[in-house]
Amino acid sequence: MSDLILRHCSVRGLPQPVDIEIADGVIRDVAPVIQREAAQEIDCTGKLVTPPFVESHIHLDSVLAAGQPHFNESGTLFEGIQIWGERKGSLTREDVQQRALAALKLMASHGCLYVRTHVDVTEPRLIALDALVELREQVRDWMTVQIVAFPQDGIYSRAENEALLDEALKRGADAVGGIPHYELTREDGVRSVQHIFDLAEQYDRLIDIHCDEVDDDQSRFVEVIIAEAIKRGGGARVAASHTTAFGSYNDSYAYKLMGYIRRTDVNFIANPLINITLQGRTDSYPKRRGLTRIKELWQNGVNVSLGQDCIHDPWYIFGTGSMIGVAYMTVHVSQMTGLQEIDACFDMVTENGAKSLHLQDYGIKVGNPANIVVLDAPDAFSALRYQVIPLYTISRGKIIASNTPAQMNVSIS
Ligand code: FE2
Repeated sequence: MSDLILRHCSVRGLPQPVDIEIADGVIRDVAPVIQREAAQEIDCTGKLVTPPFVESHIHLDSVLAAGQPHFNESGTLFEGIQIWGERKGSLTREDVQQRALAALKLMASHGCLYVRTHVDVTEPRLIALDALVELREQVRDWMTVQIVAFPQDGIYSRAENEALLDEALKRGADAVGGIPHYELTREDGVRSVQHIFDLAEQYDRLIDIHCDEVDDDQSRFVEVIIAEAIKRGGGARVAASHTTAFGSYNDSYAYKLMGYIRRTDVNFIANPLINITLQGRTDSYPKRRGLTRIKELWQNGVNVSLGQDCIHDPWYIFGTGSMIGVAYMTVHVSQMTGLQEIDACFDMVTENGAKSLHLQDYGIKVGNPANIVVLDAPDAFSALRYQVIPLYTISRGKIIASNTPAQMNVSIS
């Protein structure tokens, strides 16, 4: 007897409902009718059953720290950096782990079981990095966490930062990060991208670079990432995060750049919740949306996935842990309101995220870990329309979160 069978599941991409059988934490069978019995069975008639949501980009070291020591009243990136600078000095391992764990639980309750986090490695003690490496192992039984060593202040802006990034990789970061547009000069930015690719080769790590997260149409480090990926290959292991300046480039340059991007498998990760609020702050009107060209990248067959970036931290005061909320916002700010486009936004927080994170065992397939989410909606469109909270989050075959939808009683005749 198996452990759990989900009956009559609607699964995206399958023409008819299926039963899903789970045993020993693994998907044992997927078929229109499974005759065997299980210790527990759930009727999923009319429910969308999906692989888990994927959070492609968050900063777990700063989550749930809003208001510490004070709130960001201007709403700008720079006040956020200043507040975080004040907070960073008092970080402890327990403090980071406590907040990050609370955020991971929140995300799991919203059906998210894969998380890529950046962690600031320009803090000389590397407290947050060590804390998150330890936490990554502690939560391994129910959550997959990838850690990007992120030199928040730049690799070359201070003498010790280059060595700190190297040390972070030695201590177990999964990916090399960077912030070329925040290096002191254009030349340092270019050099930083080349150095990141060298480190990734040296340590056999993935790459995820905060890139061009400004409104400046002259911030052009995406082209440097793409050039390195063309010359060296391996673009599928590379992600360019934020890339908001791409939304400000002139169309002629954007057209040329898109052609180069198509020659690689580089992934793009957008964070619409935060960037719609942070960017365009120095504009009067018309005011830019501060978002990368999500729709056009998608139309060009480029893999685009999404992140929250922040949950209640010095940069962004809101944040629920819901990737459905992120996809919903993306539909709006990138004007992807066609039915196919809405469906594509759901892909961006599921399948596309798995691609960005370079996951090898993602999806509802026999032999994969039984990581499955049951939604109180018949399809992806309805899930976004009503911004549902999952009925069940199943991780490694175990139900780790469940939710009873609120009952609204209306007595208008
Ligand atoms: Fe970020």
